[in-house]
Amino acid sequence: MSRDSLLKIGMRHGTDKPDHQFLPHYDAIFASRRDDHLQIMEIGINTVTSPEGGSLRMWKEYFPNAEIYGLDVMPEKAFTEDRIRVFTGLQGDAEFLDRVVAQTGPLDYVVDDGSHCSCDHIASFAALWPHITPGGWYIIEDCASIFNDCWTQPDEQTILDVIWKRLKSILSTGEDSINEVRIIGDGCNDGLVMLHKRAVIGQFHLKEVMDP
Ligand SMILES: C[S@@+](CC[C@H](N)C(=O)[O-])C[C@H]1O[C@@H](n2cnc3c(N)ncnc32)[C@H](O)[C@@H]1O
Repeated sequence: MSRDSLLKIGMRHGTDKPDHQFLPHYDAIFASRRDDHLQIMEIGINTVTSPEGGSLRMWKEYFPNAEIYGLDVMPEKAFTEDRIRVFTGLQGDAEFLDRVVAQTGPLDYVVDDGSHCSCDHIASFAALWPHITPGGWYIIEDCASIFNDCWTQPDEQTILDVIWKRLKSILSTGEDSINEVRIIGDGCNDGLVMLHKRAVIGQFHLKEVMDP
């Protein structure tokens, strides 16, 4: 039996992600693990135009066996229902994120759709990346904000600088916990940065490949 795509489910729940053209990119990486018992977190619950929790309910329907966690600074956006739990706090507050992860346990997928400020991209990534499971993904949406001084000051560090500093260990030694970086700007979305966590750290050694 064919199942609805993430795009179709997202449109049903009223999240603004279909407008940004993000969902087919997610379907491509998530479909093979759709029935797994995953832990998924989204930072940022809803826009002024989307219904409360639309994207969390989209994840819940797409992943029928997953636990869905939301995180938002606005207490009025918090709600709880079967397989959905929302935490209230700032995404840039490392102590708050530590308390959240102490309750959720390791996370398979994190989607940052919160403030879109570069300082928050970096702070959330620093706090949450260590808790991503091997083979999991950390995704940052609407990354055009990196080039807009409403969200990023001209001399401010961005998530792209963080990745850039790690490229040598990603590309040449294979010892970085990131094994894949996808930067997607297809001209009709607002830019995605998708980071895949290496399934086994330090497995790849150039010597083994060169040995006969
Ligand atoms: C773009 S909306 C999220 C849209 C939703 N993810 C969707 O796909 O329908 C951004 C959300 O991030 C929240 N937010 C903004 N700044 C934040 C911060 N510093 N920490 C946590 N949440 C924040 C806002 O309250 C708002 O609910």
